[in-house]
Amino acid sequence: MKTTITVNGQASTLDLDTRTSLLDALREHLNLKGSKKGCDHGQCGACTVLVNGVRINSCLSLAVMHDGDEVTTIEGIGGEENLHPMQQAFLTQDAFQCGYCTPGQICSAVGMLKEAAQNWPSQASEDLTGAIALTDAEIRERMSGNICRCSAYPQIIAAIRDVAG
Ligand code: FES
Repeated sequence: MKTTITVNGQASTLDLDTRTSLLDALREHLNLKGSKKGCDHGQCGACTVLVNGVRINSCLSLAVMHDGDEVTTIEGIGGEENLHPMQQAFLTQDAFQCGYCTPGQICSAVGMLKEAAQNWPSQASEDLTGAIALTDAEIRERMSGNICRCSAYPQIIAAIRDVAG
């Protein structure tokens, strides 16, 4: 089934089996390997991407449902030359060990701050730094869909706290 998805600002029309997940479309059809497949069952968050600015588990969503949507993967969040503040904060706080969950953690954290910014728009800046002061408990709750098997949670929370301000 022909499906046009704009990924990181670039529109692509793919001929997809209707059973193809968005995660597999990204990884296998568009060669964007940043989004990771951990459980493939919606339990780990390694596959988190933003769809029209909202975070989802891309393993749980059929790609053909996203015709006309705008998807942002970790590759579109920022790169070596233009790190997003959240990526820089993860580096600064050493918020990973093996790194497998990191793309999903960062996409989820960016999406989570967008959600917070929508609730309190007057406090949000464009790059989300200083978006909203969240308590550590709120960050833990809002990031509970992203599992880190290395258990780098204190550093992950510290990184998000740095950006959220
Ligand atoms: Fe999608 Fe685990 S791979 S939630």
